[in-house]
Parts: sequence; structure tokens; C-alpha cells
Amino acid sequence: MKAEEKKYFLANWKMYLNRENTLSLANFFVKEKKDDPSLEVGLFPSSLYTLEIKNIVSNSQISLGVQNGFWVDFGGYTGELSMKMIRESGCDIVLVGHSERRRIFEETDEEVNKKMLAALEADLTPVLCVGETESERSELKTEEVVERQLRLALADLPPNKKIFVAYEPVWAIGTGKDCSPEEAKGVHSLIARVCKEVLPESNFIFLYGGSVNSKNIEEHLADLNVHGVLVGSASIKEDEVKNMFEAMQKAKM
Ligand code: PGA
Repeated sequence: MKAEEKKYFLANWKMYLNRENTLSLANFFVKEKKDDPSLEVGLFPSSLYTLEIKNIVSNSQISLGVQNGFWVDFGGYTGELSMKMIRESGCDIVLVGHSERRRIFEETDEEVNKKMLAALEADLTPVLCVGETESERSELKTEEVVERQLRLALADLPPNKKIFVAYEPVWAIGTGKDCSPEEAKGVHSLIARVCKEVLPESNFIFLYGGSVNSKNIEEHLADLNVHGVLVGSASIKEDEVKNMFEAMQKAKM
């Protein structure tokens, strides 16, 4: 039995959907989530649609988040959204250090740390993403990379906060390649150990992400150190969402 009794489903819609499809999918999530109190759902749509989606999810206990935020509150930073602004627009959660941000936008571990600090300061719950690339994996550096990312991201954070940590092997994201639960197991336990050591008073919720779908979700949730999933491409398909929610209800936690 895990200490955390709830199951978490976070949906990262990346830049996949236009406005019409985003709003329709948000309505679908509200309908499918029903009033199951053991299932916690969070959506990360494009931030352009945040205010409209806020209205859709307002009575559903679905959390709303953005996929990226900046650490300075206000100023001349063309194109950025500050964590304070994100909070003000009614969001509760924010993705930090997603591998697409690290890889395509060259975000560093130090910047990830600044974003973590700013998110908590703004009263947002961060969803920190960590994970190794294909080449780091083949060089057997997975644990070293994940531990480094984790320690740098968590450095100097205030105690007693709620923080999500998602293990997302980069080679499994958006590729359809599933990281087997056996392979992920060691990394999940490393993450749980390091988090407890660095911030013993904090409330950590651990997720797995990387080509999660209705076929493999149950086996990922079976890990003792996994409380939920962060899902990209399967989270924009209505039939997959329905099946994943059903699988989550069955999953032994
Ligand atoms: P995926 O994306 O489910 O499409 O692999 C996961 C993520 O990017 O968080």
C-alpha cells in the first residue's frame, strides 16, 4: 500500500491542438473524470486557452496548469509568462524542466532551479521532469544524470511544499518506445530516496511519463514509488483517455 492514496493523471497537450479541439477535449475530461475523488487530474493546454478552460473545469476539481513559466515576475522579457501571472490567471500547476524545453530551448539545470523557486514562491505546484537521453542511457549514465538533475533542481527550495517529480526517459517521450517498469523501477526508487534526503518535510508525488497509453498504464502504476502518470500524445485521444481512466480505477496502488 502506498502512502499516497490518490492516483494522478496529468495531461500535457504540448502544441498539439487548436482552440476548438482544446476546448472540446477539456469538456471531455470533465465528463470522464466524473466525481471520482481518488483520481486527481491536471491539464496542461496551450496557455493561450487557459482562461476559457478555467471556465470549463471550474466545478470539476480538475487542476489547470501551463507548460512553462519564467522566473522573473515582471519586466522586459518578450514572450515570457511569469509564475505570478500564471497563478493570477487561475492555474495551480506548472511543468518545469520538461525534456523538450531542455533539448529544444536549451534550458539548463540552473534555470530549472530558478523556475522551481519562482513557482513555489508564486504558490504554484511545480511538476519537475527529469530523465536521461538515449545516449546517456546507452552509456549507462541514467542514474547519474537523473540524480544530478534532481539535486540541482531541488537546491535551496523551501521546505513543506507539494512537489511533483516525473521520471520521463527522454528516449521514451513521443516515440512510442515504452520504458519497461523493470527498467524504470531503479530510477523511481533513486528519485524517492534523493527527494526524501534533500527535502524530508516536503510532500512529493512521483509520476512516470513517456509513451504512456491504455495498454501500459497499469503496469507503470504498479511501482511502489509511482503515484501517477504524465501523458502526452495518448492524452489527446478521447478513446485512450477513457480507457486509461478505466485502467487507473483497476490499478492496484
Ligand atoms: P508522450 O509525452 O506521452 O507523448 O510520450 C509525455 C510527455 O512529454 O510528458
